[in-house]
Amino acid sequence: MRLGVNIDHIATVRQARRTFEPSPVFGALIAQQAGADQITLHLREDRRHIQDRDLELIRELVKIPVNLEMAPTTEMVEIALRVKPDRATLVPERREEITTEGGLDVKALKGELTAIVERLKTGGIEVSMFIDPEVEQVIASRDAGADAVEIHTGTYAELWNSHDFKGAQRELERIRTCALRAREEGLRVYAGHGLTYHNVHGILQMGDLIEELNIGHSIIANSVIFGLERAVKEMLRIVRGG
Ligand code: PXP
Repeated sequence: MRLGVNIDHIATVRQARRTFEPSPVFGALIAQQAGADQITLHLREDRRHIQDRDLELIRELVKIPVNLEMAPTTEMVEIALRVKPDRATLVPERREEITTEGGLDVKALKGELTAIVERLKTGGIEVSMFIDPEVEQVIASRDAGADAVEIHTGTYAELWNSHDFKGAQRELERIRTCALRAREEGLRVYAGHGLTYHNVHGILQMGDLIEELNIGHSIIANSVIFGLERAVKEMLRIVRGG
């Protein structure tokens, strides 16, 4: 299974101070060096974390595939067609949300999404729909011309994290059913959202059915923990060394 590393929250920390560090561009290069299969990033309408310049630099410098998560808006389509990520993942976006809360309602928006998918694909960009694990959303994604679906694993993750393992198992079955159907419909199948070092195992049991996972928050959160000792020691060396 491939791993796409979502680097948004490196930019979240930077934007907390509107400064230059930590750089998501540098983070993307480190993730690439560490063996990640893809860099995933979300340019939000409110630019709360990733900025346009980050996207441009990542496109220029990163050699593994770049997956741009984006709302299906004219502004974002124009940016995608100019910057040319390898893939555009269409996601719903609400200003007040903390993170992408649910999947895109492809069924309800099929008309406008079909036109957007066509524009992106004509620009040479693979198009994936971020959907809840519902078969009707898989069918609508196929009808809209998408190449792939990314199945939202957030509900599974929340159930698992709250130790509702029966509920998590039921949600895994919904994900499996959708993944199977998507494959039958000729779509590629990815998954992500809310996955951690602990709950990812349930998804891994699906084996090859899912080609790729996109994981962000847990990896960035753990990089702070794994890296803190070294960062403190380095500052101590400077402070005490002088
Ligand atoms: N996939 C999609 C489509 C997302 O919107 C996100 C969050 O930006 C992720 C994966 C990664 O989710 P998390 O940060 O919870 O790992």
